[in-house]
Amino acid sequence: MTAAGEAVLQVLSGASPHVNSFDRCLNISSSGVSFKFNVKYAKNKGTGYAELHNGLKSRWRVCVFHGVDCDSHGKTGCNRLKSGCCKCRRIESIDGLTVDNGRQPSFPNKSESNEPNVQDFKLDRQLKNGKAGISSNDKLNASGSITNTVHKVWAKSVEDEAWDLLRESIVYYCGNPVGTIAANDPNDSTILNYDQVFIRDFIPSGIAFLLKGEYDIVRNFILHTLQLQSWEKTMDCHSPGQGLMPASFKVRTVPLDGDDSATEEVLDPDFGEAAIGRVAPVDSGLWWIILLRAYGKCSGDLSVQERVDVQTGIKMILKLCLADGFDMFPTLLVTDGSCMIDRRMGIHGHPLEIQALFYSALLSAREMLTPEDGSADLIRALNNRLVALSFHIREYYWIDMKKLNEIYRYKTEEYSYDAVNKFNIYPDQIPPWLVEFMPHIGGYLIGNLQPAHMDFRFFSLGNLWSVVSSLATVDQSHAILDLIEAKWAELVADMPLKICYPALEGQEWRIITGSDPKNTPWSYHNGGSWPTLLWQLTVACIKMNRVEIAEKAVKLAERHISGDKWPEYYDTKRGRFIGKQSRLYQTWSIAGYLVAKLLLDNPAAAKVLVTEEDSELVNAFSCMISASPRRRKRGRKKQTFIV
Ligand code: GLC
Repeated sequence: MTAAGEAVLQVLSGASPHVNSFDRCLNISSSGVSFKFNVKYAKNKGTGYAELHNGLKSRWRVCVFHGVDCDSHGKTGCNRLKSGCCKCRRIESIDGLTVDNGRQPSFPNKSESNEPNVQDFKLDRQLKNGKAGISSNDKLNASGSITNTVHKVWAKSVEDEAWDLLRESIVYYCGNPVGTIAANDPNDSTILNYDQVFIRDFIPSGIAFLLKGEYDIVRNFILHTLQLQSWEKTMDCHSPGQGLMPASFKVRTVPLDGDDSATEEVLDPDFGEAAIGRVAPVDSGLWWIILLRAYGKCSGDLSVQERVDVQTGIKMILKLCLADGFDMFPTLLVTDGSCMIDRRMGIHGHPLEIQALFYSALLSAREMLTPEDGSADLIRALNNRLVALSFHIREYYWIDMKKLNEIYRYKTEEYSYDAVNKFNIYPDQIPPWLVEFMPHIGGYLIGNLQPAHMDFRFFSLGNLWSVVSSLATVDQSHAILDLIEAKWAELVADMPLKICYPALEGQEWRIITGSDPKNTPWSYHNGGSWPTLLWQLTVACIKMNRVEIAEKAVKLAERHISGDKWPEYYDTKRGRFIGKQSRLYQTWSIAGYLVAKLLLDNPAAAKVLVTEEDSELVNAFSCMISASPRRRKRGRKKQTFIV
């Protein structure tokens, strides 16, 4: 039985609540990490050393390419074997437990059985029916308050269990906590890369630790991933831009050179060159900046963001994102699968999620960059981009009933400077599902915009983060939450929250996903339900002062999530089944739930994630709005922005 189930049984039977927490071997070091890398650069094969952009030096290894001469392309080696390492040594095994992945040894303590637990199921049903063992009508009030108490105890024990699991997922590097593993299911033998620390997956873990006052792990994560940013990485002899952050990294224990009796730990990053589909993790650097700001705000320790190497790291990410290209739009142009949806899903181009994270990272970076002579151009570029990006998204990505009516009557083939239908959208593109789906009150930002193409799907993370970052206007932000409320059965249903709506089916699924069997309709990235999204929902609701929406969603998740063993995602239209290929004990499901709970207990803490629009931006924005042909055609003068 889960700890939660046991706690409720005890309340129902009158015993004092006692959570049977698992025996866990926890060891969170409170000491800061030491960053002494006393090494030199060497270019020949074998173990070598590299000086990083930030003045730090890191050790790495070089492998010899067979048949492919990467050196001739200016690359010195194969990234898979290049690893930054510390000089600590470790005994290979502790009581027979091999430490091979950087995690502290833990003891088998969760229920090993896969059998469904009948008692848990009954309790769950009782809670669902609001009965909790008392059914008589004349005891309605008593029943209500018992149900409340039961729910509170239940929720508390789910939370305790989540903390235990989160701590168990901590990854250590040279004895210091540096991240959390993506999934931690002891019964799963097909781990793929779920035994790694993913940058995006660590964000809710990091926020949970920050909100709990445990800052070291986040500081270590920020500084170690920064080191990885500087590495040369290649895929078939091609390097992506400098400044790219890895999708994930792993702590490996390898034999120490020249000493068979000892091992050393090395950090081994994956920039997408090993990931399924070789997708570029564009979101990693953006999340990194957002977490860095949250760390400073929460801990009060601004010394990390002020460090020269960290400032350089921020600038490298910005330069990569702000670099000139062929683009006509201020939105960031990316390939498919470059964010949370990290496989083919028809989101190449200018997906909303990336734009919302980009905007949020730009605002966060602006707050953290220390003024210096060399950075004036960068800050100017950043400011220009902020204005152009917010205008573009608010104006062209927004749809509601009114805007749909406008699109329905669009003229096409408008060759001119003041076209209303700038992107040449043919009205026939409005999909039949949207006609039914769009409520009278509410609206949302569409998933993607390209020439002659609007992707009308609703993507939760992009919309929620547009609220959090103020990429959406205040009116739009409320409308997004209105839509979530109005379309609760479609977007939240039995388990919050759909990653996107609706799912691609039939021929469209075949063409857009390439017949991906993991992304079948209403599963995984194709309309699956992801509990981790609870935390972003909660931040957005708190920002708009509508916490009741998040509370309702959290309660819903709380009923199943622990009994279901914290799945990565759920399948079906209403999110009723645990995802067919879903991992269990998925860390960001656990951390997402915890962040939501912590923030609901202390909504003021959400400010470490929220960014507000400043007056400079508002002014620049209203100038652009009044110049927009859509507005001029309607003969309106300068006005507040409501599409
Ligand atoms: C899946 C998700 C991705 C996540 C990874 C690790 O690939 O799509 O967003 O980072 O799993 O949990």
